[in-house]
Amino acid sequence: MLRSEEFRKIYRYYAELYKIHDEVPYRSTSVGMWAVSRPVSIYYFFQKLNLQGRRLFIDAGSGDGVVVAVASIFTNAVGIEIDPELCTLAAQAYRTLDLANASVICGNYLTLNIYYADTIYIYPDKPFDPLADLLKSKNWSGELWVYGLHFPPRGWTLRATETAGRDRLCVYAI
Ligand SMILES: C[S@@+](CC[C@H](N)C(=O)[O-])C[C@H]1O[C@@H](n2cnc3c(N)ncnc32)[C@H](O)[C@@H]1O
Repeated sequence: MLRSEEFRKIYRYYAELYKIHDEVPYRSTSVGMWAVSRPVSIYYFFQKLNLQGRRLFIDAGSGDGVVVAVASIFTNAVGIEIDPELCTLAAQAYRTLDLANASVICGNYLTLNIYYADTIYIYPDKPFDPLADLLKSKNWSGELWVYGLHFPPRGWTLRATETAGRDRLCVYAI
């Protein structure tokens, strides 16, 4: 299947899901706020940044799994999410959509071995120094892709930014 067709399938699935649940995808979890990245912007960013050339993509705090679903069209993608209900939503989506390259781990990304990834994505709802400092302490050599401009990781180098409408993706490296 073409990448654009796969994306449309994922887009429609999540649009329907939000309709069924009749709610704006936004609520608190035990560690912060859950909100969703805009799928159309994400798809655009992943094409621009050649995600297909990267080995392993992790979404740190993956919510309902929509980012991992889109990333899995390009490469192996894993979500890590602390909220069990959101993990269930993600796992159901990957099964229903038959996304063989997408998976979700229910847990705290600060306690898991995320260093195997060469690309870590985060949509932060607040400064994420614990993750940024942890990656720095391991001298991690990958790229940190941060959705939005509001919380730049301190001491990291900004390598690139991509813009899609009102959305921005910032690429950082140590
Ligand atoms: C703003 S949402 C982003 C969701 C998704 N990445 C997206 O862009 O659509 C942040 C998510 O990170 C999760 N989260 C925050 N800290 C976490 C941690 N240490 N381990 C696992 N999940 C975490 C929250 O529960 C929330 O669902």
